[in-house]
Amino acid sequence: MNKQQVAEKLASCGQEHVMKYYDELTEGEKELLLSQAESTDFSVLSSLGSLKGGNERGVITPLGAMQLPEIRQKEKEFKEAGLEAIKKGKVGAVLLAGGMGTRLGSDDPKGMYNIGITREVYIFQRLIENLLEVVKEAGAYVPLYVMTSDKNNEATVKFLKEHHYFGYEEKFVTFFMQEMAPACDPDGKVYMEEKWKISTSPNGNGGWYTSMHKWGVAQKAMEDGVEWLNVFAVDNVLQRIADPCFVGAVIANNCASGAKVVKKCAPDEKIGVICLEDGRPSIVEYYELTDELMNAKDENGDPAYYFGVILNYLFRISDLEKIRERNLPLHLVEKKISYIDEAGNKVKPEAPNGYKFEQLVLDMIHEMDSCLPFEVERNREFAPIKNKTGIDSVESARKLCKENGITL
Ligand code: UTP
Repeated sequence: MNKQQVAEKLASCGQEHVMKYYDELTEGEKELLLSQAESTDFSVLSSLGSLKGGNERGVITPLGAMQLPEIRQKEKEFKEAGLEAIKKGKVGAVLLAGGMGTRLGSDDPKGMYNIGITREVYIFQRLIENLLEVVKEAGAYVPLYVMTSDKNNEATVKFLKEHHYFGYEEKFVTFFMQEMAPACDPDGKVYMEEKWKISTSPNGNGGWYTSMHKWGVAQKAMEDGVEWLNVFAVDNVLQRIADPCFVGAVIANNCASGAKVVKKCAPDEKIGVICLEDGRPSIVEYYELTDELMNAKDENGDPAYYFGVILNYLFRISDLEKIRERNLPLHLVEKKISYIDEAGNKVKPEAPNGYKFEQLVLDMIHEMDSCLPFEVERNREFAPIKNKTGIDSVESARKLCKENGITL
């Protein structure tokens, strides 16, 4: 597109300010800006108003989970089935590491964060060490696919290479990048990160399979015989990946997907809950949980929506293929977005000043015909790091690592 065409595109969606500094840019910068404006999908911005009111949901009803006593009883059978699948190369793991980790406040990718006290222990290292335990038990590698974003790909790839993948064989590690989406102010105007660059953010973790496909990585996985993908978050340092018992339970129950869940520790705990929505498996994010659902009780007097997800899901690839083209709902996330102000100065805000548009992996569960919610012991498997201190922080995760005998 030439300057005129880009200007028309921008005018049609109320984003003329993108060209404000055009005339003072170098030729190279002009080209970059025109090409970014051409490829950016501004259509998400038009949903800002409706998304501020939250997403419309269907009829929500409770969904039970396979709980610890039953799992313990069938552990041997599940584990054998899971190990068998891993040995045959049918299970891959997908590390979602494209996020910005803004709450943690480090400029590096979250996985590069050192949580060690007496030695260096990086978040990536913790995850890989856990996965290596399974590799050892199965006597076979689990292909590891790492999703990064435009913001952190270079640093992530470099860091993992420099650290020799923390003992993981390089040939089993594949990187791919997720898509970006424009970030805007409360009026729906995109922020400018530089005079020649529209501010964009990773478009949420829900696009992981589409991106994996776009990069040809999903196709290669299928060619290699991978049938199941265990998707997990970068920030849970107790994350059990390709857990044979979980994998085996999902396979034995002939489910299209599985979700590791924990009993919520408080009705208002900030985790999504597993449920049925219009009769299909689904997850309601904590900020969409009404007081009525939050306080509902089952016949035993327990919370009716008791099980929270920990961002560890297993998907059957053949079922992911069926939904690849479907659009997931958009979610609006308030974020701190750095920008160029009216006077052309760079501003790094202290508080959220705008919105990102994200699709979420949890919405993929609703697209699946079946899902096995699989309970895990929270103190053994759930130590998320979202913040530096307080709830879900480096502090709380260190404490939990210690409880689990991990020397930091
Ligand atoms: P979070 O929802 O905690 O987001 O991500 P975040 O961007 O990492 O952190 P904040 O909110 O800015 O502090 C949950 C998981 O999803 C991944 C993250 O890397 C993390 O593993 N994620 C998130 C992506 O891979 N891509 C995204 O666009 C967003």
